[in-house]
Amino acid sequence: MADQAGDPLFQSHDPIFNRKELLHVGHVPDEDRIVGRDDEIQSVAAEVGAITRGDPPNNVMIYGKTGTGKSLISRHVATRAQDAARSNDIDCGVLYVDCSEANTETRATRQMALSLKDQTGYDDNIPVRGVGTMEYYQHIWDILEGFFDATIVILDEIDKLDNSNILMQLSRAREARKTDAYIGVIGISNKVKYRETLDERIDSSFGHRELFFHPYDASQLREIMRNREDAFQPGVLEDGTIELCAALAAKKHGDARKAIEILKEAGELARRTGSENVSESHIQQAQEVAEINRIEELTSGATVHAKLALYALASRIITGDRETYKTREIYERYVSICELVATDPITENGLYRQLKEQAFLGVIESEKTGGGRSQGSYLLHRLVTDPKHIVKAVRRDASLEELPTYDQLADSATGARDRDVDLSTFS
Ligand SMILES: Nc1ncnc2c1ncn2[C@@H]1O[C@H](COP(=O)(O)OP(=O)(O)OP(=O)(O)O)[C@@H](O)[C@H]1O
Ligand SMILES: [Mg+2]
Repeated sequence: MADQAGDPLFQSHDPIFNRKELLHVGHVPDEDRIVGRDDEIQSVAAEVGAITRGDPPNNVMIYGKTGTGKSLISRHVATRAQDAARSNDIDCGVLYVDCSEANTETRATRQMALSLKDQTGYDDNIPVRGVGTMEYYQHIWDILEGFFDATIVILDEIDKLDNSNILMQLSRAREARKTDAYIGVIGISNKVKYRETLDERIDSSFGHRELFFHPYDASQLREIMRNREDAFQPGVLEDGTIELCAALAAKKHGDARKAIEILKEAGELARRTGSENVSESHIQQAQEVAEINRIEELTSGATVHAKLALYALASRIITGDRETYKTREIYERYVSICELVATDPITENGLYRQLKEQAFLGVIESEKTGGGRSQGSYLLHRLVTDPKHIVKAVRRDASLEELPTYDQLADSATGARDRDVDLSTFS
């Protein structure tokens, strides 16, 4: 039997974290922990806010890069609108649909119908399978008609929906006499081109405003993290750690989710290594791990040749004294790397196409450079991230772990500046 202090195998006191849930991905911060989005909150409220006065709302599309607060702000404004409506005796529903999961019209309408049923005393049975979209719409209209004066529908990651008919149905519902309730749609996407993909008919019936959320700057990220400092035990975060984390995240992407994840990972690292504090070096390491994860994710669907091409460019940068290399130079290195891992190389043109694909993924930047008229033009490729991270990410592929490590490459470079390093010494 364990004594009063509990089983020593399981520490009852976490030395690093106090309220770790504040750093969880799905955590929705309280209103007073939302930072630097006052204008955006105002703008979204201005579009849907008429609902709270019993008037018709506008539809709105929110665009912005990942981690810029689009989902958070939409939910926040919708909930506040619902409360404000209630105090005016207006029944306003809030529907949140994650279209990356509910990615067909049937799934999305089913989720909406079930969620409306949850929010009300609707007692009709809503089957989860075996019925079509039209039946789900019917339930939606019936519930809206029976229980609500209005509803806000958040369609998050709307570009993942396989068709946009739902926008037309929702925006025409009153006109088509399906329901008297006002419906305000907040669509969210990180693809600015989403609108161009909309059918003209849908685009015009879903008349809407567009808002753009910008990446956070370092001071906003700093404040977002400061507001969650109590995720840690008092005094555990060393001075300067949040500042460093914010500076790194602002420089790379301005993504609040990543910044919070790095802070959490730094805490985990400190705990794993038995440190009492989270230091700047923990942040640096956590940031590195996050970046390697990101590259691994980006290249996870890529062919082994694409990975070898990336590795070839990274290794040239590490062993050489330039940041940019021609396709030909990368190809030469790639061929000797193929030998190392006993893989048949593809053609130079094939490799060029792989590089173009990586550019598309945002791992490489390629720029056309005009030689003289006689030389013709050629492409110069550079890495968008630290070559060290590429080497680590590529080596995580089980079939490529034989490739030289970053340290081996860096060592071989000393004294051999940009002469073609003999990679065979590694095999
Ligand atoms: N202004 C803010 N104040 C406090 N926390 C924020 C703020 N903006 C974002 N966050 C936090 O950062 C994380 C990402 O925010 P959110 O999910 O809203 O981003 P997003 O723009 O929807 O990203 P994606 O396009 O990837 O879905 C969330 O955990 C959220 O709580
Ligand atoms: Mg989101």
